[in-house]
Amino acid sequence: MTTTKLRTAEAKTPINAVNIKALKIYVRSADITRIDTPALVVNLFRGVKKPGGATGAVDKALDGAITQLIKDGEITGFAGETTLIHTFGKIKPQRVLVLGLGAKDKFDIQVIRRVSAEAARFLRRKAISSAATVAHGAGVGGLDPALSGQAIAEGAHLGLYKFGTYLSKNGDSANEFENLTVVESDKARAKSIGAGVKLGCTVAQASIKARNMVNEPANHMTPSRMAEAAQEVATEQGLGIDILDNPQMKKMGMGAFMGVAQGTDEPAKLIILRYDGDPSNPENNLGLIGKGITFDTGGISLKPPGGMEAMKGDMAGGASVIAAMEIIGQTKPKINVLAVIAATENMPGASAQRPGDVVRAMNGKTIEVINTDAEGRLVLADALCYAREQGITKLVDVATLTGAMVTTLGKACTGIMGNDYTLVQQIIDAGEKTGEKFWELPMFDEYKDLIKSDVADMKNSGGRQAGSITAAMLLAEFVDGAAWVHLDIAGTSTSDKATGYLVKGATGVPVRTLAQLASDLANKAGTAKQLRS
Ligand code: BES
Ligand code: MN
Ligand code: ZN
Repeated sequence: MTTTKLRTAEAKTPINAVNIKALKIYVRSADITRIDTPALVVNLFRGVKKPGGATGAVDKALDGAITQLIKDGEITGFAGETTLIHTFGKIKPQRVLVLGLGAKDKFDIQVIRRVSAEAARFLRRKAISSAATVAHGAGVGGLDPALSGQAIAEGAHLGLYKFGTYLSKNGDSANEFENLTVVESDKARAKSIGAGVKLGCTVAQASIKARNMVNEPANHMTPSRMAEAAQEVATEQGLGIDILDNPQMKKMGMGAFMGVAQGTDEPAKLIILRYDGDPSNPENNLGLIGKGITFDTGGISLKPPGGMEAMKGDMAGGASVIAAMEIIGQTKPKINVLAVIAATENMPGASAQRPGDVVRAMNGKTIEVINTDAEGRLVLADALCYAREQGITKLVDVATLTGAMVTTLGKACTGIMGNDYTLVQQIIDAGEKTGEKFWELPMFDEYKDLIKSDVADMKNSGGRQAGSITAAMLLAEFVDGAAWVHLDIAGTSTSDKATGYLVKGATGVPVRTLAQLASDLANKAGTAKQLRS
């Protein structure tokens, strides 16, 4: 019997330190009915009357209890269904949790992420702190055991996530689910599952870092704190880092970014992280650009108070880029990645910019500020210029850019726009592997008319029509011929409820897709099947 202990990173900083015990995931090669565990998780596809495989073996040992519950209609196998059966000494595990996998023809690794999360939360609700599970789909499901292990780890970590930093009563008294053991009788398969679990822990932990940064209130998660978080990632992963301050940025001509930053006393930061995965080929590069508005009041074009607290999450794009760099630093794809995060508050201070002001971005283009609440595109304009000056040829920006995106696509998928169909498709494909969905919006020339200004090269608001697209049209003016894709995560960066591996609050989207993209690009245009360490 071999046991591999796979622990996720120790909590060190306020960003990692959720007041809860981290889940530990182990992989063991053993016979499942002989495992000494408070709960054994087995699974069932929808519509199956007589379970086979591991579930069949357990059913048999329990004198057909599972078959009986199916017959009674209590177990149907819908995705995420949880049925707890006490074994009363018939087998070693104290309880069996029958987990529904849904319809067989709809089964994939995304289903595993979801049901793994549902199972983990169910067990926590039942005050069960340890469980063993089969590797869903790795048997008759025909899935790669490593992918199954990865999805189980991602689902469990992400699904159990809680933001408890400021809850006084969140400590030891709370029930926590602490240990999960993935059991597989075949030694070689157990080894692949172990590798998958390890990678799953890495990417989940990074997504959780992004979630923590987004959930953190704006009086704590300032631009300086974001820079510190990036510094921690750089130190841990051996990445290059530069933090530019207001005087430096002014000197470099970042008038669009500085126009937004002048309304607050909080120092702005341009955070630059550098991963050199292919130093002998500098042109093999990717730029990840993040909007880091640590609080968006709207500025002088002040937002209405209702729901304004959600604007602490207006740095989700920047957080996702920092977190993706953490994964990239660990998985080491053969590509150079530059991350640029424009971090500031958007406040209506005494020296705040006014509607009608004209600012000049780093590339010399001028923008009339019609609405100071359309600040994301202003800070990104200079961040994109900066990345271009650094020789980046493929740009992906991530931003909670427009309320219009929430209206258009809701929270099911991220809006994607760009000037390069190959890169757009590569991100959509990467998202299919990670379970993060993207839907493309058009960038027709006609939309450009909407941001024409009488006094400057363009204006920062196109009015009511096609709000998400006109925002992207402005960004397109600052990419200087490079392949560029814009991801508007205004809807997807947060969730209203716990569902699958998402919980209420920050989601960590699109951290896992950004890391997957870097891996796919490194393995030449998406031929790799899945992110690999
Ligand atoms: N940060 C907001 C967009 C946003 C809204 C994100 C809701 C998440 C949820 C952005 O800076 C903004 O205020 N956009 C304006 C643009 C408009 C003034 C042209 C908007 O969408 O209303
Ligand atoms: Mn705004
Ligand atoms: Zn904003």
